[in-house]
Amino acid sequence: MTADLTHSAAPDTKRRIFVTTALPYANGKFHLGHMMEYIQADIWVRFQRMRGHEVHWVCADDTHGAPIMIAAEKAGKSPQEFVAEIAATRREYLDGFHLSIDNWHSTDSLENVELAQDIYLKLKAAGFIATKTIEQFYDPVKGMFLPDRYIKGECPKCGTKDQYGDSCENCGAVYAPTDLKNPYSTLSGAAPKMRSSEHFFFKLSDPKCVEFLREWTDGANGLDRHGKKRLQSEIIAKTKEWLGEDGKMGDWDISRDAPYFGIPIPDEPGKYFYVWLDAPVGYLASLKNYFETGKAKANGESRTFAEFMAADDTEQIHFIGKDIVYFHVLFWPAMLKYSGYKVPDSVNVHGFVTVSGEKMSKSRGTGIDPLKYLQLGMNPEWLRYYLAAKLNANVEDIDFTAEDFMARVNSDLIGKFVNIASRCARLLSSHCNGELLSRSLLASGNAVDDRKYIQVFEQIAANAKAILSLYDAREFGKAIRSIMALADQANRFVDEAAPWTIAKRLSGSDDLSSDWVALQQICSAALHMFFDLTVMLKPVLPSLAEGVEKWAGVDSFAWQVPALNTDNTTRLNAFAHLMSRVDEKQLDELFGLLPEATEKATKPQPASKGASGGNAATKPATQGLQANASEKSGEFISIDDFTKIDLRIAKIVNAEHVEGGDKLLRLTLDVGETDASGQPKLRHVFSGIKSAYAPENLVGQMTVVVANLAPRKMKFGMSEGMVLAASDKDGNNASGLYILNPHAGAQAGMKVT
Ligand code: 2FM
Ligand code: ZN
Repeated sequence: MTADLTHSAAPDTKRRIFVTTALPYANGKFHLGHMMEYIQADIWVRFQRMRGHEVHWVCADDTHGAPIMIAAEKAGKSPQEFVAEIAATRREYLDGFHLSIDNWHSTDSLENVELAQDIYLKLKAAGFIATKTIEQFYDPVKGMFLPDRYIKGECPKCGTKDQYGDSCENCGAVYAPTDLKNPYSTLSGAAPKMRSSEHFFFKLSDPKCVEFLREWTDGANGLDRHGKKRLQSEIIAKTKEWLGEDGKMGDWDISRDAPYFGIPIPDEPGKYFYVWLDAPVGYLASLKNYFETGKAKANGESRTFAEFMAADDTEQIHFIGKDIVYFHVLFWPAMLKYSGYKVPDSVNVHGFVTVSGEKMSKSRGTGIDPLKYLQLGMNPEWLRYYLAAKLNANVEDIDFTAEDFMARVNSDLIGKFVNIASRCARLLSSHCNGELLSRSLLASGNAVDDRKYIQVFEQIAANAKAILSLYDAREFGKAIRSIMALADQANRFVDEAAPWTIAKRLSGSDDLSSDWVALQQICSAALHMFFDLTVMLKPVLPSLAEGVEKWAGVDSFAWQVPALNTDNTTRLNAFAHLMSRVDEKQLDELFGLLPEATEKATKPQPASKGASGGNAATKPATQGLQANASEKSGEFISIDDFTKIDLRIAKIVNAEHVEGGDKLLRLTLDVGETDASGQPKLRHVFSGIKSAYAPENLVGQMTVVVANLAPRKMKFGMSEGMVLAASDKDGNNASGLYILNPHAGAQAGMKVT
């Protein structure tokens, strides 16, 4: 047998990489999207570290800007107190999901002030800062200029009230805030006044800058130091739109007037950097803090921050979401370039996570709370594995569904990979004293044709090279598919060798030494396969891999196959259970964040089917509800039953026909809700009242809505509540259909009790 059974990726040159993930705004909890980005980066970072590269990954809270200032004021706190409270919640998530971030800092830090001001002064000295007087809406009651998002008014085209300053939800017209009729500040209700003020601009339109960006994004300088494109093709296409022949780069307004929670512009009293100027500088601030607090040294980097940043071999790699590309591939490299700092090597962009096909939205009750996931005792590595299996290097959205999650974790991760160890570990420990034959000693067995396991070893070694490249290229889904295909081969080997039949003989009276040797041979071969696959899954499953390392008595698996390359027999330590299956009940609980399941929690549930197999479909919440809805209730309900129904006054702000929906109207309702930044949030409800109402007659009317009804996915979109309407006693519409109207004076959002 001459085939090469080994694969080692000891790098020729040690890479020194500075990795960042987008800095989250310090005004809210982490959601699944944050975890997806961090898990994606973590897998890549761990993989590079396994290969022997030096990686320093930093992140921080993005603390500045008007929304945070306003949210802090609403909460009766100083902005500093407000962001500190958010910062204190981060660790639980980072540790909980095994994220190996080396430093977590804040943009509201001395390092960031120094760096942002330094970059600005260098840009200014290089002639890249201009000033211009601009006119903006000013709130005379709050005494501040109003960002567009805090201005509403009537649509200049159709007159619909309460429209934002950019476009009309009713007629779709697009306009500037200054075009709104009867504008008002959503902060104070006051009519804003136009006021002028001097603003500072970064001169992106400078031909030198445009040329630099063209070269850097896809020109002569569009490849990274490894000869790969520094941007993904979808992103390059976008930059071509922005920078192409017809693309007009406007100068970028980088200043805001007091009051503002931000970094003061040097020598310009009352002027602050716009949050997006200092946010990416926060990457450098966190890195500086990491160096200056001795953490870099502890991680093997003895240079200073300045030396590290000045070194040619330092790679700077950003992971971000598709919503913030413009800032990272235009503003940020240009800022760095013209202030003399290192320019990023690459920017890796990912898509969004949807949950059951829906964009996550707290106000609609969709989404999954990562902390709740952990608190339910769900294994963080299930989520890491699940996301890895779905991620690729493109800018694509990925969808989380309960059924898919359960199938991939239970059938693939546990049913294929963990199963190899479960099948053989106990046999080896109970019959062979846990003595694992080395690969060279395997051939001393006599039950298995050597070719059978050698073929699998060969496949593993041959694929390890491709899997390495897939990890390197962030094609995690493909890497996982290859690894699972290898796990299939390992399981086939075990199936055919059927060590349990030998173990049965050994447990009986016929204690044949040839059986004993054969069992040791089969189990050892299978466990070598398992260890090799563990190496390849270690970036995704660091904690499971640690358990396997302890079991095998190995300090730490590096990226190399065979994982265990000893000449002698290894006595394995006691085998500890590696991973449990997902329990359907946990997923029900997790999706219990949906209003559907909040109701479910108050009603008796049919017993869970349990997670007996990998394909057990999960229908969180809804299944239980349907089963119970048909239950005969008693004659009376209790007051508690009644108060479970959240009835609210709603204002119909829009009504329209639904294409293909014979009986339906699509209503847009104001139910008095606001989002995290205090902006009104509207709901959409599909209502079967088309036979009774012309949509235009409904607009502006007040009605009553069941506000805590589970959001329902319909053919035409999501329905987020139910409008109450009267019809015949038997529920037919023969005598007409009448929506409820409250008396005059009732306001949107009032509770009906
Ligand atoms: O979009 C966001 O959530 C921003 N807080 C990301 C900032 S990334 C970097 F530039 F700081
Ligand atoms: Zn309009």
